[in-house]
Amino acid sequence: MSWVIQATLSENIGVMKYEDVFLYISTLFLTKPVSDENITVIDKNFSGIPVRLYLPKRKSEKQRRAVIFLHGGVFVFGSCKTSTYDDLSRLTANRLDAVVLGIDYRLAPQYRFPTSFEDSVCVVKFFLQDKVLAEYGVDPARICIMGDSSGGSLATSVTQLLQNDPEYKDRIKAQALIYPGLQWIDTFLPSHREYEHGPILYREMIIKLACQYVTEDKALPQAALRNEHMPEESRHLFKFVNWSEFLPEKYKKNHVYTEPVLGKLNASYPALVDSRVSPLLASDSQLQNLPLTYILTCEHDLIRDDGLIYAKRLQNVGVRVTHDHIEKGVHGAMSFTRAPVFLHLGFKLMNKYISWLEKNL
Ligand SMILES: *[C@@H]1O[C@H](CO)[C@@H](O)[C@H](O)[C@H]1NC(C)=O
Ligand SMILES: *[C@@H]1O[C@H](CO)[C@@H](O)[C@H](O)[C@H]1NC(C)=O
Ligand SMILES: *[C@@H]1O[C@H](CO)[C@@H](O)[C@H](O)[C@H]1NC(C)=O
Ligand SMILES: *[C@@H]1O[C@H](CO)[C@@H](O)[C@H](O)[C@H]1NC(C)=O
Repeated sequence: MSWVIQATLSENIGVMKYEDVFLYISTLFLTKPVSDENITVIDKNFSGIPVRLYLPKRKSEKQRRAVIFLHGGVFVFGSCKTSTYDDLSRLTANRLDAVVLGIDYRLAPQYRFPTSFEDSVCVVKFFLQDKVLAEYGVDPARICIMGDSSGGSLATSVTQLLQNDPEYKDRIKAQALIYPGLQWIDTFLPSHREYEHGPILYREMIIKLACQYVTEDKALPQAALRNEHMPEESRHLFKFVNWSEFLPEKYKKNHVYTEPVLGKLNASYPALVDSRVSPLLASDSQLQNLPLTYILTCEHDLIRDDGLIYAKRLQNVGVRVTHDHIEKGVHGAMSFTRAPVFLHLGFKLMNKYISWLEKNL
C-alpha cells in the first residue's frame, strides 16, 4: 500500500494536501467483512469504536489465543480494514487458530491526540473483560497486542499503560512491535539522516503528517524539521532517546551526536513531552515490568532507530525481547504482500512475525 501511496503522492502532491491523498488511497483499499472457509469476519462497535473481528471457524476444545491489532498510518490515515491488513489478520487467525481484533481508532486531524490512544485503550479494556473474552472463546492468559509503524507506537503506549495499572497488570502476555515509531523528541537520529529521502517514508512528509496529530500550527513542523521543537524544560528527557548511548556501533556509523536546540518554539504542546506520544520517554522503572516483546526493525527505514533504541532499553532492564532486524528491509514491508515490489520481503517478514507468535503466545 505504501508503495502506491508514494507513487500517487509524488504525482498529486501539487494539487492535493498530503492528508487528503492518504485518506483517498486508504479508502480505495477498504475491504468488506467477508468470511471465508476458515474464518468468520465481522465488523462491530466496541464501546462505540469500530472494530473488526476474525474468528476461526474450526471447532476447538481449548480456549484460543488472541491478537489485538493496531494499524499504522501516522495517526492520520489507514484502517484495519484495508486489504493488506485484512490479509495479515486473516492469516494470523488461520495460522495461530487465534481470534484477531482490529481497532479503527479515530484519526487526526479531525481527532487529534489523545483520541487515537484513548480509543485504543477503551477497546482493549472492553475486550479484556472476562465475559467478552468468554464470548469469543479467548484464553485470558494468551493475549498479544501488535501494531505496525504508528500502530506500533499505540501498541507500545497501551501496553505501558496497562502493565502499570494494578487492575490490568499481566493481562497482556506479549507485545509485537513492527517497525514502530516511538518518539518525536529528536528528529535527527542517524536513520533520520540516512533515509531522509526514503525509501517509503520521507523525513519532511512524515514530520508534517505526524505534527497533524498534535496541532494544525505550521510552526511545529517547521521547528521539528530543524530539530528545534522541544521546550527548554525538556532537557532531562533526551537521555531516554540518546542514540549515542543506545544504538549499536554499526548504526552509529560516523554520525556525531548533536544536542537538539531547545526553547525555540513559542507555543507549548504538552503532547511533545507525553510518553503516550513518545513511548520511549517512559522511565526504566516503567519499562521493567513489560511483557514478552517482539520487535521487528528494517535497515532502510527512516524510523528504524526508534525500534533499535527501544529494544536496547528493554533489554537493559531485563525484559525478554526477541529482536528481528531485517538487513535490506524497508519500512512497511509487511504490507507489501499484494504489491509487485518487495513481495518476497513482505511474506518473509510476515512469516517471521507469525512464527514468533506460534512459539511464544
Ligand atoms: C483454510 O485453511 C487451510 C488450512 O490451513 C488452507 O490450506 C486454506 O488455504 C485456507 N483457506 C483460506 C481461504 O485461507
Ligand atoms: C457502529 O456505530 C456507528 C455509529 O453509531 C453505526 O453507524 C454503525 O452502523 C455501527 N457499526 C456496526 C458494525 O454495528
Ligand atoms: C548523549 O550521549 C552523549 C555521549 O554518550 C553525551 O555526550 C551527551 O551528553 C548525551 N546527551 C544527553 C542529552 O543525554
Ligand atoms: C516568539 O515570541 C517572541 C517574543 O514574543 C517573538 O519576538 C518571536 O517573533 C516569536 N517567534 C515566533 C516564531 O513566533
